[in-house]
Amino acid sequence: MARCRVAGVDEQWLNLESVIGVIADLALERPNAIRCLRRLAARRGDRRIPLIYLTRTGTDAVLRETGNLGIMACFSALAIEPRTIVASLFRLIAPGKTTTDLLVEYNFELVGSLFSEIFAAARSGSLDMKTVDEAVGPLLAAVQEGGLNRWITLIQAHDDTTLRHCLLVAGYAAHFAIHLGLSSSERATMIRAGLIHDVGKALIPLSVLNKPGKLNSSEMATMRDHAALGHEILVAAGSADPIMLAVARHHHEMLDGSGYPDGLRGDQIGDTVRLLTICDIYAALTERRPYRPPMPQTEALQILRGMTGKLEPALVEAFAISIEGKAKRHEYIAATA
Ligand SMILES: [Fe+2]
Ligand SMILES: [Fe+2]
Repeated sequence: MARCRVAGVDEQWLNLESVIGVIADLALERPNAIRCLRRLAARRGDRRIPLIYLTRTGTDAVLRETGNLGIMACFSALAIEPRTIVASLFRLIAPGKTTTDLLVEYNFELVGSLFSEIFAAARSGSLDMKTVDEAVGPLLAAVQEGGLNRWITLIQAHDDTTLRHCLLVAGYAAHFAIHLGLSSSERATMIRAGLIHDVGKALIPLSVLNKPGKLNSSEMATMRDHAALGHEILVAAGSADPIMLAVARHHHEMLDGSGYPDGLRGDQIGDTVRLLTICDIYAALTERRPYRPPMPQTEALQILRGMTGKLEPALVEAFAISIEGKAKRHEYIAATA
């Protein structure tokens, strides 16, 4: 949940700015171990850096020394679960927060900065799909551990409309994939698809993209270009798989042929695209926009259910169940197997 670095006993602690906590698994009977922690104490000065010590002997002499070195908690290395050590460290780092709070917040920040990187690279023609892959694990962990509502709450506080939308779609896609019981590689595909589905918006003028009101017909035509542009960006990136290419180009296609840019129909639209389109429409309806408040869940689901002929009813129902939190996890899979 946070980046970890293993430091040796010779560590000089030169770059402490990014260090939020230290777990010391050292034998304090050895002078070089004590010197290592004294250097840490000297370097950090008045700055509070939580320090946990794992002891293997627990002698009185060692325990006395821990007080002098600024150690805040001491555990037996032989009788404690790593998860407990990490939880203790995070309680020391942020006393008012749970480990889950910190995990979700950290991963949200990470996904947000990776997403900004993806869009900046898409603008400059240097998109690397590895950056998209890097965001998958943290996003899934945040939605899985913290739940969909916490993810949505964090997103709503963000200023950037496109980031909010794409991270919301990716969050719904992750939640939907978990609900459907998809495999881990299928979950990853759904999350990647959510993150990059609107990558073409990186090339849409901000005056259109962030217009605080309804778009006129020419602005709407410009906005609709994002689907084909997204496809072009991913083709140029070179390593996007066919599903990502299809999602970027076709997530506004409808089963009755009324969508864009290619007016595809029925079987011409693949499964991941169909799933993503549902997440995309639901996100667009329920997110905050400068010119209207978010639509309540029930109303948005009613609109999705009313899109007969355009969306696959069984998938819409499965999505609605996942959002309403009903435990019918394998119903769709069983019904379509
Ligand atoms: Fe789109
Ligand atoms: Fe979208």
